[in-house]
Amino acid sequence: MSAKIIDGKLISTEIRDELKQEVENLKKEGITPGLGVILVGEDPASKSYVTAKERACDSLGIYSDNRHIPNETSEEELLSIIDAMNNDPKIDGILVQLPLPKHIDPDKVIMRISPEKDVDGFHPQSIGKMIMGKDTFLPCTPHGVVKLLNYAGIQIEGSHVVVVGRSNIVGKPVANLLLDKSKNGNATVTVCHSRTKNIKDMTLQADILIAAIGKAQFITADMVKDGAVIIDVGVNRVEDSTKKKGFRLVGDVDFEPVKEKASAITPVPGGVGPMTITMLMYNTVQSAKQRKEKK
Ligand code: GUN
Repeated sequence: MSAKIIDGKLISTEIRDELKQEVENLKKEGITPGLGVILVGEDPASKSYVTAKERACDSLGIYSDNRHIPNETSEEELLSIIDAMNNDPKIDGILVQLPLPKHIDPDKVIMRISPEKDVDGFHPQSIGKMIMGKDTFLPCTPHGVVKLLNYAGIQIEGSHVVVVGRSNIVGKPVANLLLDKSKNGNATVTVCHSRTKNIKDMTLQADILIAAIGKAQFITADMVKDGAVIIDVGVNRVEDSTKKKGFRLVGDVDFEPVKEKASAITPVPGGVGPMTITMLMYNTVQSAKQRKEKK
């Protein structure tokens, strides 16, 4: 069996078309959704994510205030830019691209963002509400994963989901969302990580396997149950002299052999990646709607 490919680009386009319409409607009512994007330093992967976010804003008609600041920027300076964005009525959402240079404490930065503008869903208040099943900004990659599963018609309730990876950005929140007693939850969730013994014994039990480890092609075909659904969150650069840039992108899953065993699989690129950016746009539009309601 060769798996159905879950096309994140196509699903993203559908959601973005709806968002574009919502932005137009908001503009007619005098509200232009706005996103503040802060990038510190020159990390190439971060730069390309941020460029993609800025382009997505442009294509949807969302105003974006992009600050690309040097690696040497002090923590104080960064916090003062966040303060200004917190107080700027044109800005509905603030995103500080992670990782940050070593001299800046990411927790301090995340906590400085007003929860009302926390479109990344990383603030402790947003995370707490998510875990309690309350309405809040959901972190973009986990939310994108849930949307992909919904669009692909995959049953979450009652499934055994195995998440490999326990980051604050993906592993922990996606596990919580799928566990939640709600329409898109009610799964049985196992979380594996670098200290898990016999990871393969765990992954072989997965009806839905979510790979968010950050290691190229870590999940091999022998780790996958026949008919499993595979969501690959990884984006890894591997050297490839045949490519103009000198590298190609691969996921955390060994795509070709795993595709032959799975029932559905997300590709890299073109799977989870576009959904992350789309859900950031979604959160920004939601935040603008909340601003309208307060007017
Ligand atoms: N770095 C990698 N993924 C993300 C993300 O979703 N948001 C931010 N702010 N930084 C990231």
